[in-house]
Amino acid sequence: MTIYVTKNYDEMSKKGAEIIAEFLKVKPAANLGLATGGTPVGMYKELIEMNKKGEISFKEVSAYNLDEYYPIEKTNDQSYDYFMKDNLFNHVDININNTHIPNGMAANCEAEGKAYDELVRATGGVDIQVLGIGGNGHIGFNEPSDIFEPITHQVTLDERTIQDNARFFNSIDEVPTQAITMGIGTIMTAKSILLLASGSGKATILREMLLGKVDPRVPASILQFHKDVKVVLDEEAAAELL
Ligand code: F6R
Repeated sequence: MTIYVTKNYDEMSKKGAEIIAEFLKVKPAANLGLATGGTPVGMYKELIEMNKKGEISFKEVSAYNLDEYYPIEKTNDQSYDYFMKDNLFNHVDININNTHIPNGMAANCEAEGKAYDELVRATGGVDIQVLGIGGNGHIGFNEPSDIFEPITHQVTLDERTIQDNARFFNSIDEVPTQAITMGIGTIMTAKSILLLASGSGKATILREMLLGKVDPRVPASILQFHKDVKVVLDEEAAAELL
């Protein structure tokens, strides 16, 4: 695991974008695993700029997102489908047919999860998976639990996650209580991982994730067992590591 500590959110975003850009230069047809939430927005802005300047291309990229609220229509501006178009896909030269997000309207979430994992596997697996981290240690929407969930599945969101995500909604009552998420097992099959975190609100969980024991109560701690993880933090998020 390599940990980079940057000065602030903008520098974290630039470092994250640099890592993805270097990757795309070596493998233009990469399978990118992508995340939503506040953390990667700045990195996506940087990638959009690089794409506009012709420094990188997404023409041959396939994208696989971690998760989607459930149930939610793609057209809902709170859906992660909408988020990805708004924050990245609509602004770069990616073929939208090569972008994949769990179906928030799946009739059968178990079948959807299996099909999603199969899709990821059949296309050769994720080359580099972007992750944020929840204040409770979740990655994707794998909430603290007694086990590390192996496969893509339906999940009931933690009270902490609902509270954390309420900032994106008019009121906490509007925050969906369910989601479909790649499992921890699915995430761990990615060949490499780029986890971003910013701000003092993430400092304690990062200490637990990086310096504590591997425990499904801190789902991100499993990344201690992955062979190729880059963690890009800003100084506030890194405060309890020093
Ligand atoms: C998003 C996701 C979540 C977020 C996490 C952090 O697709 O899977 O795990 O990465 O909740 O969210 P922010 O970045 O808003 O702090």
